[in-house]
Amino acid sequence: MTTLLWVVLPYACLAVFVAGHVWRWRHDQFGWTTHTSQVLENRLLRLGSPMFHLGMLGVIGGHALGLLVPASVTEAVGISEHAYHLVAVSAGTVAGTLLLVGLALLIARRIVNRRVRRATTTMDKVLYVALAAMVGLGMFATVATNVIGDGYDYRSTIAVWFRGIFWLHPQSELMTDVPLAYQLHALGGFVLLALWPFTRLVHVWSAPLAYLLRPYVVYRSRRGPAPAAAPTPAAVRDAEVRDAERRPVSSGR
Ligand code: HEM
Repeated sequence: MTTLLWVVLPYACLAVFVAGHVWRWRHDQFGWTTHTSQVLENRLLRLGSPMFHLGMLGVIGGHALGLLVPASVTEAVGISEHAYHLVAVSAGTVAGTLLLVGLALLIARRIVNRRVRRATTTMDKVLYVALAAMVGLGMFATVATNVIGDGYDYRSTIAVWFRGIFWLHPQSELMTDVPLAYQLHALGGFVLLALWPFTRLVHVWSAPLAYLLRPYVVYRSRRGPAPAAAPTPAAVRDAEVRDAERRPVSSGR
């Protein structure tokens, strides 16, 4: 059972993640979008969406630091374990709260607004439930265990197991005594990866980042007389015919 949960399931989910994206790209490129519902409702979206995305960026940054950077590295650069946990817990709580409130607004909007509700697909519902479970469990682990409770050092268990998956050396035995909320959260993370290619989450890979670096569009005010309108294709063709008629006929020598 330990191997099934902490070795087989993560690799199976990663395989579905990769194969699912290839399938989606080949079969549904036109559906590869955010499926925005902004035209149906904008007030709650304008508040919830930036909160959700900003919170998510913070949470992703925190996960990268907490799961991918070994405690020995932070110690080596002079960050004590105590300082690490203080920053991780406070920044994690702020980012997680932003994410939680943003997600709650996005879900509420799908429930209360009839037009948005009718545009919500089954996969959207599955995705919102999965996201809510992940955020709820993550916040519970952080707040109940590390803010209010006695604390739990996930860097010596979950983080080592997590990195091991990508080094092809998953130490499943490290996960057996992990508190249940953390276990469910970690497994849920992989299940979410398996769902990813079949949901609107694919839009993450098409975020218009080049937009941030594009050259400026230069707008000039139009003072003075308006420029002449560009000639129509028909006018250009007529002018060419007139020119050809005016040209002297060559003698052929
Ligand atoms: C396999 C993937 C994942 C693993 C191993 C993982 C692990 C963790 C750990 C160890 C914590 C820290 C709890 C604490 O401070 O005591 C945490 C917190 C959290 N996680 Fe995850 N997580 C994963 C994926 C995700 C995903 C996909 C989401 C969101 C959709 C998410 C959302 C959160 C939130 C909101 C928190 C609380 C705020 C924070 O500390 O950043 N996690 N997670």
